[in-house]
Amino acid sequence: MVDLLLGLQWGDEGKGKIVDVLTKEYDIIARFQGGPNAGHTLEFDGIKHVLHTIPSGIFHKNAINIVGNGVVIDPVIFKKELDNLKKFNINIVSKLLISRKAHLILPTHRLLDAASEASKGKAKIGSTLKGIGPTYMDKTGRNGMRVGDLEFDDWKTKYRALADKHEAMIDFYNVEIEYNLAELESEFCEAVETLKKLTFIDSEEYIFKAQAEGKKILAEGAQGSLLDIDFGTYPFVTSSNTTAAGACTGLGVAPNKIEKVLGIFKAYTTRVGSGPFPTELFDEDGATMGRVGNEFGATTGRPRRCGWLDLVALKYAVQINGVTELMMMKADVLSGFKTIKVCTAYDYKGQKIQHLPYNIESEYVTPIYTELKGWAKDLTKLTTAEELPPALNDYIAFLEEHLQVPIKIVSVGPDRLQTIRR
Ligand code: GDP
Ligand code: IMO
Ligand code: MG
Repeated sequence: MVDLLLGLQWGDEGKGKIVDVLTKEYDIIARFQGGPNAGHTLEFDGIKHVLHTIPSGIFHKNAINIVGNGVVIDPVIFKKELDNLKKFNINIVSKLLISRKAHLILPTHRLLDAASEASKGKAKIGSTLKGIGPTYMDKTGRNGMRVGDLEFDDWKTKYRALADKHEAMIDFYNVEIEYNLAELESEFCEAVETLKKLTFIDSEEYIFKAQAEGKKILAEGAQGSLLDIDFGTYPFVTSSNTTAAGACTGLGVAPNKIEKVLGIFKAYTTRVGSGPFPTELFDEDGATMGRVGNEFGATTGRPRRCGWLDLVALKYAVQINGVTELMMMKADVLSGFKTIKVCTAYDYKGQKIQHLPYNIESEYVTPIYTELKGWAKDLTKLTTAEELPPALNDYIAFLEEHLQVPIKIVSVGPDRLQTIRR
């Protein structure tokens, strides 16, 4: 039995927190796509942790954590993550397993990402510059290097051929980027040696066996549905399938083995990087969301753009993923707003529509809002659904009615304990 946990917006919905909260109910937590472009934050016992590639179940003794074949791994960032975990006494070799089929991010992939972005000027994607796009390009172009290659003595020959090709490609972009490849390569090789001390597995086989033994598996998504390479706001997306299908290809889970699809969203909307965002606010309300919600990227530190909840986009994500249960995060951030707005339709070239059109740039789309009453109550100390203020219950009921999926968790703060079940 496999459950999926997916971000339904433009990422940073709070996936790390919820995976950590749910891990005690699972035997295995498995990341299935993305790479160190992700920043998943967990908070407990007064400490904040940010994970990039390592699954968010790593702090629990009961669970095995798998980095699946769909993930792209930068050994250098991975090593830093491992270093940060050292003081927590986790048995990494037995608890963290890595798919041999996961692709490797080379230093030159990062440089190519930077060169590609620099060449685009104002049209840049706003990538996290972690080399994600170029690495997935090499994967689908059938040129990539995989974790399993590191088990063979000739991996450096493979590495050299690919890195040399990348260098020529960087020249092709004809942009100014400064780098010292020798330094980057020595850092990479050192990190590879650390990576090689970990346990590499045929993860699809491991997951088949676990399923046969009745183990409970939670697949942890990265990014969000609107950053999906097929269904997101292309080209302002990431380079993997962040939606439910990505768990099938990124882990080897058959579609008929998926049970629950847990969809996670913020009570409002945020986005980092470029691209259309119909409900984006440029006023005091948006600034308040950013300030109260501490909306800065966990990977890049960039301020996140903020706006009201977009139900047109959220419904689209619910449909694409087949979401069976919803989790609403950061409800506490909306406390104090007199009125809460929700986008329930778009004015698209003068016509009222309720689906996501091909183009959602602001010159085509204006959000149409429904206004609901806000609440003043501080939610951060609440522990039960009975304590939620009536106006928040009305907000939840409105969303459930619109989306036709129950909201099972309401999150009221970053800590593990600030989680209310309904
Ligand atoms: P992820 O990428 O989906 O794991 O999300 P991030 O970790 O990038 O961003 C979510 C941010 O919101 C983190 O700083 C979390 O600590 C924080 N957070 C999560 N849930 C809540 C919540 O309910 N309320 C508040 N105020 N912060 C939250
Ligand atoms: P988590 O898992 C938010 C965004 C980048 C950029 C676009 C492409 O923490 O939710 P990339 O580096 O993938 O080529 O960048 O996608 N992006 C994210 N935004 N959360 C993330 O991950 C993101 N990962 C990538 O800002 O707009
Ligand atoms: Mg994040």
